Amino acid sequence: MVQTMQTPVQVQQDKKHPQWAFLEGKFVPIEDAKISIMSQVVNYGIGAFGGLRGYWNEDKQQIYVFRIQDHLRRMLNSLKLFANTISFSTDDLQKIILDLLRREGYHEDVYIRPLVYNATEDITPRLYDVEFRFACFTRPLGNYISLDVRACTSSWRRIEDNVLPSRGKITGGYINSAFAKSEAHWNGYDEAIVLNQDGHVAEGSAMNLFIVRHGKLITPPVSDNILEGITRGSVLQLAHDLGVETVERSIDRTELYVADEVLFCGTGAQVAAVTEIDHRKVGTGKMGPVGQKLQDAYFSIVRGKNAKYADWLTPVYS
Ligand SMILES: Cc1ncc(COP(=O)(O)O)c(C=O)c1O
Repeated sequence: MVQTMQTPVQVQQDKKHPQWAFLEGKFVPIEDAKISIMSQVVNYGIGAFGGLRGYWNEDKQQIYVFRIQDHLRRMLNSLKLFANTISFSTDDLQKIILDLLRREGYHEDVYIRPLVYNATEDITPRLYDVEFRFACFTRPLGNYISLDVRACTSSWRRIEDNVLPSRGKITGGYINSAFAKSEAHWNGYDEAIVLNQDGHVAEGSAMNLFIVRHGKLITPPVSDNILEGITRGSVLQLAHDLGVETVERSIDRTELYVADEVLFCGTGAQVAAVTEIDHRKVGTGKMGPVGQKLQDAYFSIVRGKNAKYADWLTPVYS
């Protein structure tokens, strides 16, 4: 068991973040958080990670981490795909994350990056007779992408379940995201929309996708080679609570062009409007009414301003 800190560290406004990481069972200064170049994660990308946000609430002088247990469960499920485990439970990991955040003493929005990685130093890429370890760092983070996005359909296809499972947040799988994102960037767009092997819409480079048609909120099913996004699940729940009908079904590429609204959602992306796709204006070219409702609800919830969803939030400071 790791020792965790119960009291907030006094914040120094001028200090550079991050200062701390968790590696090999202990908290270490960030400059000492190094992994061997002989490890399988460095050479083959054999690892899985999580990406969480903590939102600062000025009135309450508090950071709320969004759906921490769900994110940690998904990370351990990714490890399950590797037929491996680590010695920490999701409760242990939660304690380490909260402790890291307190050590930094953040008074701003933050991002949390937990990682489980194959630390074994051997040249045969494999999942047996190897050791997975846990590491984590945090950093300040504002908007990851604009909340008003110009996107293109990528020429890269989404990784397929029987090649490299998309439902896992697998380190090496993000080469696919890097190809798609970079192509979009080099062609003058903000983001990519990636199709799966059968030509249906999967998601963005690191965010799930929704369209609105005839008042219904539609998103690809989890069997269409998407990441099973925590924000996606939250948006589906919110839409339901707000009386918007939701449908999980495959989406054709050309439906993007005739949709009334297209949204990206994810921990990084938050809830953003895709206002242009492949040189076609989406709807009115602005955030539409369904997206606006969902975005407003999302931001109010994550900042701890909607008591109904308080169980999605974990406060950092006591
Ligand atoms: C490929 C991909 N899809 C979707 C998402 C959204 O998932 P979540 O809402 O759990 O952050 C992410 C992560 O941000 C991602 O990397």
